[in-house]
Amino acid sequence: MIKGNFPVEKFKQLYTPFYYYDIALLRATLEAIKKETANKPFHVHYAVKANANPRILKEIASYGFGADCVSGNEILAALECGFSPDKIVFAGVGKSDREMQIGLDNDILCFNVESIPELEVLNTLAAAKGKTARAAFRINPNIDAHTHKYITTGLTENKFGVNEQDLPRIIEVVNASSNVQLTGIHFHIGSQITDLKSFEDLCIKIKELQEWFNAQGIKLPVINVGGGLGINYQHPNHIPMADFESYFRLFEKNLPLQERQALHFELGRSVVAPCGSLISRALFVKEGIQKKFLVIDAGMTDLIRPALYQAFHHIENITSDKEPTPYDVVGPICESSDVFAEQIVLNKSVRGDLIAIRSAGAYGEAMASRYNCRNLPLSYFSDRF
Ligand code: LLP
Repeated sequence: MIKGNFPVEKFKQLYTPFYYYDIALLRATLEAIKKETANKPFHVHYAVKANANPRILKEIASYGFGADCVSGNEILAALECGFSPDKIVFAGVGKSDREMQIGLDNDILCFNVESIPELEVLNTLAAAKGKTARAAFRINPNIDAHTHKYITTGLTENKFGVNEQDLPRIIEVVNASSNVQLTGIHFHIGSQITDLKSFEDLCIKIKELQEWFNAQGIKLPVINVGGGLGINYQHPNHIPMADFESYFRLFEKNLPLQERQALHFELGRSVVAPCGSLISRALFVKEGIQKKFLVIDAGMTDLIRPALYQAFHHIENITSDKEPTPYDVVGPICESSDVFAEQIVLNKSVRGDLIAIRSAGAYGEAMASRYNCRNLPLSYFSDRF
């Protein structure tokens, strides 16, 4: 079976589970994004929520990308790791006063505003500081991203954004808010989107909305299309990178920009998912009635995606070359949903073998918890090993 290229002998000396980040792959990914956006009015803000490990943040910031934050603490983490405040955007349906103040104090590029009451509070807080906040309204485009229901966000019944019908009222409120300047519109239709057609639908919708704004005499310097580009979880060894070329070309083709207009992107998963693997040890092979359970020392506290979204991650035994054998791979947590995969084929596994759960760089370490009083997973980086 084809496996990832891991320093297995070094891994054997380490306490498991831990995240291992392939920094060469992260850099190659960042280079690819840079190449596809160069010489275009395209700005990429890395979605910090996908992975806020300081080493990862510093690496991404060093390429000059911006940050997309969803909490005050994410703004502080981004600043600490070298992101420039004038490249930080701040989204979220429930920003607290403290969080808005962090954004105002640091003069961030833009607040992605999700409701009229939020706009009013932002105006009041900005006025108290004698500042003008730049804001993009997040509009719910009612587009089906054809992804898991927990990570589809662009349909009308989602809690995010404002609906089209509210736009005339929003313009009224913006006009009455002297400390908020409307600089653009913002969208995000979902995550792990592999059918790029959904982004084409988004472009059509944006063009329609833009015409409406222009008809009101409003120019929009910023169009922010959010994130959502999916990766191939099935074949991490053959397809280690998202198709950035097709993705950016799609927007170039389908969304002609007006003069002095820039297109902003908030990519998270596609930047960091492929470079991270969760490395774990096999604890026991437990014989069921009809199947074998491979019990490993990583659990849903380290990587919750399979338990929460029935997400697929490719799994490999990186220390065995024995015959392929079917297993259910399960963690040690006291929850029946603590299952990484059912009836998958691994090289025959014994206690002590190292198991790699691949493509775990996004929403892996960032969503780890201390449930069952477990330790948070450690992290290691391929270039400092
Ligand atoms: N912008 C906004 C407004 C978002 O809500 C998100 C993700 C992104 C950008 C980045 O999207 P990405 O490029 O990563 O798809 N925990 C889930 C994913 C939640 C995504 C939340 N929003 C998972 O593990 O699949």
